[in-house]
Amino acid sequence: MCGIVGYVGTREAGPILIEGLRRLEYRGYDSAGLAVVNGAHVVTAKEAGKLNQLEASVASGMPRGRCGIAHTRWATHGPPTRDNAHPHVSGDGEIALVHNGIIENADVLRRGLEGEGYVFQSETDTEALVHLIDHFWAEGGPLEDAVAAALRKVDGAYGIAVVSSRDPGKIVVARHGSPLLIGVGPEGEMMAGSDAAAVVALTREVVYLDDGDYAVLEPGGYRTFHLETGEVERAVHHVSWDLAAIEKGGHDHFMHKEIFEQPTSLRNVMRGRLLPDEGDSRLGGVAEHQFDLGRVRRVVITACGTSWHAGLVGELLLEEYAGIPVEVEYASEFRYKNPVLEDGTLVLAVSQSGETADTLAALKEAKHRGVKTMGVVNVVGSTIARATDFGIYLHAGPEIGVASTKAFTSQIAALALFTLHMARRRTLSVVKGKELVDALERLPGQVEQILAMEDEIKQLAYEYKDARNFLYLGRGYQFPVALEGALKLKEVSYIHAEGYPAAEMKHGPIALIDDDMPVVFLAPRDPIYAKVVSNVEEVKARGGRIIAVVTDEAPELQGKVDHLIRVPHTVPGLMPILTSVPLQLLAYHVAVARGADVDQPRNLAKSVTVE
Ligand code: M6R
Repeated sequence: MCGIVGYVGTREAGPILIEGLRRLEYRGYDSAGLAVVNGAHVVTAKEAGKLNQLEASVASGMPRGRCGIAHTRWATHGPPTRDNAHPHVSGDGEIALVHNGIIENADVLRRGLEGEGYVFQSETDTEALVHLIDHFWAEGGPLEDAVAAALRKVDGAYGIAVVSSRDPGKIVVARHGSPLLIGVGPEGEMMAGSDAAAVVALTREVVYLDDGDYAVLEPGGYRTFHLETGEVERAVHHVSWDLAAIEKGGHDHFMHKEIFEQPTSLRNVMRGRLLPDEGDSRLGGVAEHQFDLGRVRRVVITACGTSWHAGLVGELLLEEYAGIPVEVEYASEFRYKNPVLEDGTLVLAVSQSGETADTLAALKEAKHRGVKTMGVVNVVGSTIARATDFGIYLHAGPEIGVASTKAFTSQIAALALFTLHMARRRTLSVVKGKELVDALERLPGQVEQILAMEDEIKQLAYEYKDARNFLYLGRGYQFPVALEGALKLKEVSYIHAEGYPAAEMKHGPIALIDDDMPVVFLAPRDPIYAKVVSNVEEVKARGGRIIAVVTDEAPELQGKVDHLIRVPHTVPGLMPILTSVPLQLLAYHVAVARGADVDQPRNLAKSVTVE
């Protein structure tokens, strides 16, 4: 959840580290800090609050040196104060360390180290590790040996970067359960990052560390090791996107940019994967693995947050078209159950970041039980993408806005492609397959039409910006959209919102309805439309203010709803892609109208890499 960046090379590290932190701020933003090795000293600077607080504090005197590390934090242990901000340093100030993850045996380590006379300055789990490195360094040798010795005593998850004036001009990095990569620069400059965004301004050549790996970065090169097996080789990968992909490109916020990127991200997820003549899809990652999908008897989809909502749409698609039983599990619940995963079960992990700790743990549990696993992941080379047996990449490009938008619609499209593939190998006719292919091909243009309605939705947002609660209602394929619409509004505007199956409203939430309660109905013309119209009547009878997302003139709703948002029509299974876009715009503009920090909502971080 936190961001790590490191630089060693021929230039001043400070400005490069700040630039890297700027690219990573979406990962956590409650404090930030850096440490630079300057001759016999390590100079640190850190501040509570967002990155601009740190920038202000170093404006009059940036620490000098050509080797340094930096961090942006999302607090786990200890509140977001300056003392708890990273880097943490050894008692003599000669070792500095930044860390993502949680050291689970930190209390035990701390007690032992305090017994040896070490004095702690913070409430973090991280500080134990820097003192532990110091403890092992008493035996001499290079920094990496002390780091490796300390890591062998640690339980939990970490991605770390360490520098020291006792062994200057090098960064030691390590990972176990929290992502860490090396950026290999063109002129022998080396960087470290918790994701590629940290290094892409310098280089698009990266080396992903595996769990248990550590590495030494020095000007001119790097060496990689594994804690158990010694020196290892790790492949260099090319990042397919460039700096422009992680800049706002003229938009006020990343969320806005990403909403408007959806026609492109949808085209990208489908590129080369549709077979119009055969009414089928071609999925390279699935085909390469040569797994016989005919053996799949049941699918379990596991995910968190927005990805879980996409999983719910996937469930309906797979059941409708492929006739396969599907369950959708919160990864955080699945991992602590005793899931029944018999032979023939395929576990599907859906994740934008590919780093969500709960989803990864659920995936590991599934693998442990010996079933096949598949990823639907956006970030190439991410931990979940590498841990699954095979998968489908979204190719949506980096998603920086904390509120997921383009990843959601791409996830549904990817699940639809997979559904098509499965269904055509079962009972789906070529004619029905062609219908789905045709509907998929039309989606990007249809999303463009919805985006052209932004002004109308913005006006609506200003009208409702002071509401204290919102209800989102939908049925069938639209129920996950109701959940997603409510989540988007909560996340970025801090308005309480709930998503419900429209008919369930009568069993409780209807008590909330009065003329202060805006209710968003998802009411595309589909086989369940008439039932939704009845639910609209029930809300209207109680004075609720209704916004309905519909697909045509909706004469049945005239006079019963306060606002209609008309989106183009498609098959019910793909309709969530179209109905969710106006809800993203609504949430975005309500948040802007309320003056909320859209891209960095309070308490959130983009990728949740701790339990
Ligand atoms: O990276 P993932 O898709 O695994 O992330 C899952 C959730 O943390 C994520 O969707 C979260 O709910 C978003 N903030 C929603 O906008």
